[in-house]
Amino acid sequence: ASTPVLTIDGPSGSGKGTISRIVAQRLGWHYLDSGALYRAVGIAAGWSDIDLSDASALVRCTFDTVVRFRDDAGGEPRVIVNDVDATDELRTETAGAAASAIAAIPEVRAALKDRQRAFRQLPGLVADGRDMGTVIFPDAAHKVFLTASAEERAERRYKQLKDKGVSVTMDGLLREILARDARDASRTVAPLRPADDAVHIDTTGLPIEVVVARVLDIVVGPA
Ligand code: C5P
Repeated sequence: ASTPVLTIDGPSGSGKGTISRIVAQRLGWHYLDSGALYRAVGIAAGWSDIDLSDASALVRCTFDTVVRFRDDAGGEPRVIVNDVDATDELRTETAGAAASAIAAIPEVRAALKDRQRAFRQLPGLVADGRDMGTVIFPDAAHKVFLTASAEERAERRYKQLKDKGVSVTMDGLLREILARDARDASRTVAPLRPADDAVHIDTTGLPIEVVVARVLDIVVGPA
């Protein structure tokens, strides 16, 4: 049998990142934050002054961008982009918007495919993104699709960013998130959509622990 994979897909702010990290930790499995790869290419393009409309330069940038994840005792993993710790810059909505723009380019997605699949290692992998269950790991044994109301998703991002000291307004953030979701859902290549065999969980109003328990239940059965 091949290495087990749990895919967790959904729109921004659905709780994917938080839930995936905790579930991976509980299971003792590896964790892939696929959004970080797209964000990394987005900011690396910015560092090199590459225009977000210059597809061929962005594809080259994708091949040239080296992303490493480094565990940080107790905290979220650090993300190192071309030897620079870019963890904080990666979280900004500017990086999210750049990621969403480059993520619509088929050659960029193709260039990142094998890099994502390489994370599938024993004893197992929790993969977080938009197309984990549909494109990257269609054979995953366990698939989850997380959603939440747009307001709650904006609120979660707002809190996250404020905690990091990034200045944002709730209105601006809600608008940016809705625009990004619309673009992610309407693009022709790997649009955000649940896999046919995904279990849907609406996390609106649910505490993190409850969502974690439901997801673990899907993988290992009722506690
Ligand atoms: O999940 P996160 O918000 O970090 O993702 C940033 C952007 O990267 C998304 O808005 C989406 O456009 C893109 N993405 C993607 N496929 C993935 C993960 C992220 O297209 N598997």
